[in-house]
Amino acid sequence: MLTNEQINNIKNSINIVDIVSNYIPLTKKGKNYFGVCPFHPDSDPSFCVSEQKQIYTCFSCKATGNVIHFVMNYENISFKEALKILADKANINIDIGDTKRIISDKNSKLYDIYDTALKFYQNNINTASGKTAKEYLYSRGFNDEIIKEFMIGLSLTNHDLLTKILVNKKNSYEDMLKSGLVVKNNYGYSDIYSNRIMFPIWDVTGKVVGFSGRIFNGEDTKQFAKYINTKETPIFKKGELLYNYHRAKNSCRQKNCVIIVEGQLDLIRVYSIGVENVIATMGTAFTKEHTLLVKRLASNVIICFDGDSAGAKATIACGNELTSIGITPKIIRLENNMDPDEYIKSNGKEKFIEKVDNPINFIDFKLSFYKNDKDFNNNNDIAKYVNTIIDELSKIDDEILKELTLKKLSIESNLDIDFLRDSLNKKKVNVKKEIKNIKSTVKEDKYEMASKHLIYYMLRDKKVIKMYNNSKVFIPDEKYRLLAKEISGFYINNGFIDVSALMNSFTNNEDMIKLIGEIEFLNLNNEYDILQINDYINVLKQYSINSEINRLEQQMHTINNRDDKLVLAQKLLELKKEQSKIVEEKLYERD
Ligand code: CTP
Ligand code: MN
Repeated sequence: MLTNEQINNIKNSINIVDIVSNYIPLTKKGKNYFGVCPFHPDSDPSFCVSEQKQIYTCFSCKATGNVIHFVMNYENISFKEALKILADKANINIDIGDTKRIISDKNSKLYDIYDTALKFYQNNINTASGKTAKEYLYSRGFNDEIIKEFMIGLSLTNHDLLTKILVNKKNSYEDMLKSGLVVKNNYGYSDIYSNRIMFPIWDVTGKVVGFSGRIFNGEDTKQFAKYINTKETPIFKKGELLYNYHRAKNSCRQKNCVIIVEGQLDLIRVYSIGVENVIATMGTAFTKEHTLLVKRLASNVIICFDGDSAGAKATIACGNELTSIGITPKIIRLENNMDPDEYIKSNGKEKFIEKVDNPINFIDFKLSFYKNDKDFNNNNDIAKYVNTIIDELSKIDDEILKELTLKKLSIESNLDIDFLRDSLNKKKVNVKKEIKNIKSTVKEDKYEMASKHLIYYMLRDKKVIKMYNNSKVFIPDEKYRLLAKEISGFYINNGFIDVSALMNSFTNNEDMIKLIGEIEFLNLNNEYDILQINDYINVLKQYSINSEINRLEQQMHTINNRDDKLVLAQKLLELKKEQSKIVEEKLYERD
């Protein structure tokens, strides 16, 4: 167990600006540093790092935290694991124990089951029963080293071997069913996978969260599904993970380039020829979550999907998702409808690497994609094509690329380049207008404002914390009340106030950290006077009194007993007196 002192010692030995700069480029503006937020899809620099406060916040998605939270969220690791990374950077020795135990209890059973299954499958492929499976893999160009590295295994023809092992290991049937490796039928429980080559699927941190099993014995792929994946569970969501992410991470960051392919087979093939900065989608569309994961690896992205028309369509969709967060991908297209695996097999690895070194621009791919089904003798088709490309050009920022493309388009369509440029400029104005209309301001009530402002100054001056404590004011909104209480507790324990350290107490409460960030980055004057703080406290007091008065007045209507009514009336009178006193106080002090 690490003490708060140890944690703060690590935190204080490093500078958040240095750490964040290792992951994303930052530019200094005034006192703070700005960059593009890695935690939401965006291309604007709304991510702000404060060197002085040692915290970060995103003005757009509100992601907030200190340096430990940054590493946790960026690397998708636990608090302890993040601390370990930072301690190493600061040359401080710490022992965080066995990180496996950090896995939350709720899913630990599933991880255990996959671990058992992984060892079972891997063992099978190395026995006599694994001979044909291995031969199949060799025939596809995989050697033993690759089989081992990707932990490829085999499920056996007997239908209940894995089930038996799992039962022996005291797993519950409920967990076994939940894992997607076991099924219940009329005869009892049995394995879902039989005689398939088993590819473990890892999450972004490298934990096995499921399997994909491929048939290999010459079975009919029309009759049987070529691949069967374990079902989606809370830890296995295909839309949120990318195959090989954890293994490719370092290589991608070193090269500042990541290649995306479709499916594990293509991936392993590409990886095995020495191109290691590669990740794969798993037969699903490319999602917003995927874009965020990709953005954390590199700023150059190459899409290398299957060469068929489905692959071309998926390339457009994936490229557009990436463009929406400010990444303009490059594209590799493979001839004769081939996928990367087939391409390498028939053309050799050098030819493939040549393609990797010379990917084409996304917009050039779009030109050829949208031209594909158009008849250039038909004016309707030409108009459609020109409109589509103008639309696409309105989304990109690169002026030179835009101009070059306009030139091409002008030649293709026989339309004057100035006319095309005019159309493009008109389109851009419309896009800007739309964005303006979406932005609306949310009006917050005066109690919320008073709570936030009071806390803002509590975070800056212990005098304000004392004023808050002495006032005994009850902050109406629970989240602000809790925060004020924590600030005051932190101050009592430490004798000073430090936002960045305060955030550690809320590591499991993201909303609270966001709230602290929101308040800390309010654009308020750092100077304040006592009257101003009194005002905030009085506004909040008023709220408690008003709501108490309302409550009692409601009660008055419901009771009949005269004595009770009298008691209530007395209480009301006192409250109203207090209410007017607050107002008077304010007037008096203002004079
Ligand atoms: N996929 C799937 N279920 C299927 C088919 C495909 O989940 N029935 C997913 C798998 O993740 C697969 C990816 O989609 O890796 C790509 O499928 P496909 O192109 O059909 O397979 P290949 O990768 O070409 O595999 P192989 O070369 O072995 O045919
Ligand atoms: Mn293939």
